[in-house]
Amino acid sequence: MSKRYKNWVEYYELKGLKGGDLKKVSGYEHGLAQLTQMGLKSIVKVAKTRLNLNSKDILLDLGCGAGLLTSYLKNQVYAVVGVDASLEMLKNADKDSKFIKVVAMADCLPFPDNSFDKIFCHSIFQYFPNYQYAAKVIAEILRVLQPGGKCLIMDIPDLDKKKEYLKLKKPDTHNLKRIYYKKRYFTDLIPSIDVFEEIIPDYKNSYFRFDLLIQK
Ligand SMILES: C[S@@+](CC[C@H](N)C(=O)[O-])C[C@H]1O[C@@H](n2cnc3c(N)ncnc32)[C@H](O)[C@@H]1O
Repeated sequence: MSKRYKNWVEYYELKGLKGGDLKKVSGYEHGLAQLTQMGLKSIVKVAKTRLNLNSKDILLDLGCGAGLLTSYLKNQVYAVVGVDASLEMLKNADKDSKFIKVVAMADCLPFPDNSFDKIFCHSIFQYFPNYQYAAKVIAEILRVLQPGGKCLIMDIPDLDKKKEYLKLKKPDTHNLKRIYYKKRYFTDLIPSIDVFEEIIPDYKNSYFRFDLLIQK
């Protein structure tokens, strides 16, 4: 029988409350979403390279969830601020003082303009309520990013591959829907943007998703 949730934030609040293994809490436990340790390390390597992370950077991990990736990224930078809509997800994250946790919605970030050198964002755009919301999030990213800063957004579901993806994916057992994007949606929205097909070994979802690199 299908479970009913108000929205994805409620879904992740309950997942965070249950706790347990970080990959499971973060939704990477089975099927196409299964993420091995090798897959996880590849994502961190891509982030490090594309964002050119260094020990002076203040990094924002937007939608960091339980901090699965954040706890690796923090070792590459001076400090990381992890933002998530779900307090219960953040409670699962590691307690290192280099990893500052903030509960906030991605479209309304509680930071002054130009606060971050780099921004990383993995697997959250699919959970937004609609395209207008995604546009507001992009505007917030551009506001809090320093001039000259870079933002990498990974794991965005590709609308052109939706049919193929749904054929392979086990049907969900709940009422919530993901949103899929045309690459064009972002290239029309932001002038200085690169789009990548990023295949992460040992993370099958990545065949159906794309990444964005924004330079401010
Ligand atoms: C699949 S988890 C990804 C977590 C982390 N980025 C990772 O890859 O391990 C998705 C996260 O997005 C968060 N989220 C969903 N919608 C959000 C929003 N509008 N603002 C902030 N966080 C949001 C959820 O609470 C959840 O923790």
